[in-house]
Amino acid sequence: MQNTAPAPEATVTQTRTQTRIQQHRRYLMCRPEHFTVSYTINPWMEPANPTDTALAVRQWQSLYDTYLALGHEVELIDPIEGLPDMVYTANGGFVIGGTAYGAKFRFQERVPEGPAFMDWFRDNGFDVAEPVEVNEGEGDFLLVGDAILAGMGFRSTGDSHGELARVFGKDVVSLTLVDPRFYHLDTAIAVLDPVEGPGGVERANIAYLEHAFDERSQAILAERYPDAIRVSDADGSVFGLNSASDGLNVIISPRAKGFEAQLRERGYNPVLVDLSELLLGGGGIKCCTLELRS
Ligand code: ARG
Repeated sequence: MQNTAPAPEATVTQTRTQTRIQQHRRYLMCRPEHFTVSYTINPWMEPANPTDTALAVRQWQSLYDTYLALGHEVELIDPIEGLPDMVYTANGGFVIGGTAYGAKFRFQERVPEGPAFMDWFRDNGFDVAEPVEVNEGEGDFLLVGDAILAGMGFRSTGDSHGELARVFGKDVVSLTLVDPRFYHLDTAIAVLDPVEGPGGVERANIAYLEHAFDERSQAILAERYPDAIRVSDADGSVFGLNSASDGLNVIISPRAKGFEAQLRERGYNPVLVDLSELLLGGGGIKCCTLELRS
């Protein structure tokens, strides 16, 4: 019999091929029937560039079909004419345990979306916590394990982080975004596995773009997630991090080549979906996806 203690080399290999566990997801999406870029509220939006609404709908449909093919549930909210950004449902609220904390948008152009999403939540059996503070929902709030990472700097305010903590009774970790291209937290952090399983916090893991954050926030992330994937600027700039994970499958942009390789190396299954048309509005896969946690 050989000595059973694994060689250091073997330990590394084991980490790399770690078994990933797919969790069921329920999402809220909005077909981009009225999608266009008619105003500028982030550096990606250029109203002079033409948009192709039919193409946006086809690309969106491929994301919708992908979720269903993976066994997830997708609910739909009716698109409203004159609200072209409604396709980015991640901004519509933040939902845990059947309670939806409503959104209160920073810019006038999107303000009417807040009540529209709250109506949908009420009509679909969620308790709604109406927001007093400006916040853009899951665009800036990410549940990782038992903590909520919360972004500020461009959209959601620091005061909304306090409100969020009161609504859900959870630890809220404030992070400051500093690069205008990455104006929502979900453009700079991807939650790969939010579950604190038998392996403890080890399984709750993220990927992020370091320089999208100020120094204080970088230090917090490095301390909390020593095993996080750090992505390149090239992958961040194609919204590679704006992705949705079910713990095993990670839906990402086909342009994020380096991130795709990093995910494979960690035992995740990257699934490529191209939302190039929706990137003209400054949004990607995660932006078009709001998780409904019952
Ligand atoms: N045009 C939208 C805005 O600027 C894009 C929102 C993207 N959503 C997101 N969760 N990052 O508000």
